[in-house]
Amino acid sequence: RQLVLPRNPSLPPEVFHWIPFVGSAVGYGTDPINFLTTCQKKHGNVFTFVLLGRKMTVALSSKGNNFIFGGKVANLSAEDAYTHMSTPIFGKDVVFDCPNEKLMEQKRFIKVGLSTENFRAYVGMVEDEVLDYMNRDPKFLSYQAKDAASWGQFDPVTVLAEMTILTATRTLQGNEVRSGMDKTFAALFADLDGGLTPLNFMFANLPLESYRKRDRAQKKLSDFYVNIIKARRSGQTNNDETDMIAALMTQSYRSGTVVPDHEIAHIMIALLMAGQHTSSTTGSWAMLHLAANPDVADTVYQEQIAKFSNPDGSLRSPTYDELRNLPVLDSVIRETLRLHPPIHNIMRKVRADLVVPPSLASPSKDGYYIVPKGYFVLASPVVSQVDPDLWYNASKWEPSRWNDSEGQAQKAFRQYTDENGEKFDYGFGAVGKGTESPYQPFGAGRHRCIGEQFAYLQLGTLVVTMVRSLEMEIASGVPKPSFHTLIPTPKQPRMISYHRRQLDKA
Ligand code: HEM
Repeated sequence: RQLVLPRNPSLPPEVFHWIPFVGSAVGYGTDPINFLTTCQKKHGNVFTFVLLGRKMTVALSSKGNNFIFGGKVANLSAEDAYTHMSTPIFGKDVVFDCPNEKLMEQKRFIKVGLSTENFRAYVGMVEDEVLDYMNRDPKFLSYQAKDAASWGQFDPVTVLAEMTILTATRTLQGNEVRSGMDKTFAALFADLDGGLTPLNFMFANLPLESYRKRDRAQKKLSDFYVNIIKARRSGQTNNDETDMIAALMTQSYRSGTVVPDHEIAHIMIALLMAGQHTSSTTGSWAMLHLAANPDVADTVYQEQIAKFSNPDGSLRSPTYDELRNLPVLDSVIRETLRLHPPIHNIMRKVRADLVVPPSLASPSKDGYYIVPKGYFVLASPVVSQVDPDLWYNASKWEPSRWNDSEGQAQKAFRQYTDENGEKFDYGFGAVGKGTESPYQPFGAGRHRCIGEQFAYLQLGTLVVTMVRSLEMEIASGVPKPSFHTLIPTPKQPRMISYHRRQLDKA
């Protein structure tokens, strides 16, 4: 159906700034969520601000999410927005360094590796790694804290970052990479990771040592993966594995071309990067909230006792199928992602002038906004995830909101009424899907995350393994986020106090 537009196009309102080029970089960079919601109050759901020379048009609300996530590739491009930063990290010919159709094929290949069969093998591996880490790492759980009366402390950000990379390499990345974690791989990963900062995001190449390290690490990591693939192809090492390399080695493009080794290598690097900070910071926030809410932590623990108690009182390991069926654990992760979605702002570059539907925002009854080619558009699902018009106690971490039985789903968030007066009830299950959902920690549309199930598996196993072992407290409360990293990290002080509850299993 042709959209009939009123007569007068105009640009969206622009946020005032004093310094040309820099624009609103300081306000946005210090606290993007506060910046966006303050501008929203003044300008409505669609407005433009200047960020280091770029014109960024923001579209807020569920309709704004839909406008961006549901946009056509001909109008909105992720690769034009991200390739300058992602290609030096991931490498050539994958993700944003190729046309969108090729990325869609690559996502299909990755899904083959993210199979239920593989996931069934992963739960035990993640549990092993976490237990091993807690039993061996001196800076985390020294044995002096084995005495139930004594309390130790750990920094969730460090611990979760280490546990996340160890568990991801053990499972998805495969044996050779996990073994490399104890050798050179960890240092190369750290150097590459050093290239993922807001500075790199804006300026792809500067004559700085961190950029040189990034480039050296990318090359070495790429060679490292290519050598693994070659050794597997030649039969020197076993390719009968449950990991992603094995899955990608069996895939071909529609053209018939087998996925080349360097592309498999670069997809593996992309997956490592896509899953590391997203999962590890979500895990940190979850542990911080559990430490600050021991009653919720106890509910998670009781759920474990109810489902996994052995006759001798010890707890057996969950299977993947059981792990997927733990409503309390699920709600803790879901609620953590509502308040702290790691990817809080998502960009696209405008390839052809874009009409803002008047139902989203318009200057007047007979006008409409147009976002010109060359601008960037920015979606911020976190704004609708904490919108007090949609959620009760919107800023409060309240996992139980997700477990309301049917009929009480509105306690999770109010009903949403569209401009025709039609009511939408975003009940449990519906909220995670669709480009117009107010809950989109994994994005929506063609670029939606395909790592969601893996993230739930990894985070779920991590959280329950820790909760089974530890009682936690945090005297300083849950910290505020710092936005100086690409993914918001909990500020200091953030040390969690713990003592072990299952001394016999330690
Ligand atoms: C895309 C979030 C974990 C792989 C995305 C997007 C979001 C997201 C918001 C959409 C980005 C956009 O539209 O530009 C998260 C969160 C995670 C997580 C919150 C954990 C809590 C993972 C993991 C993997 C992964 C573990 C890999 C195993 C991907 C891939 C894409 C993606 C391949 C597609 C990129 C595209 O099509 O442009 N993720 N992610 N993610 N994520 Fe995740």
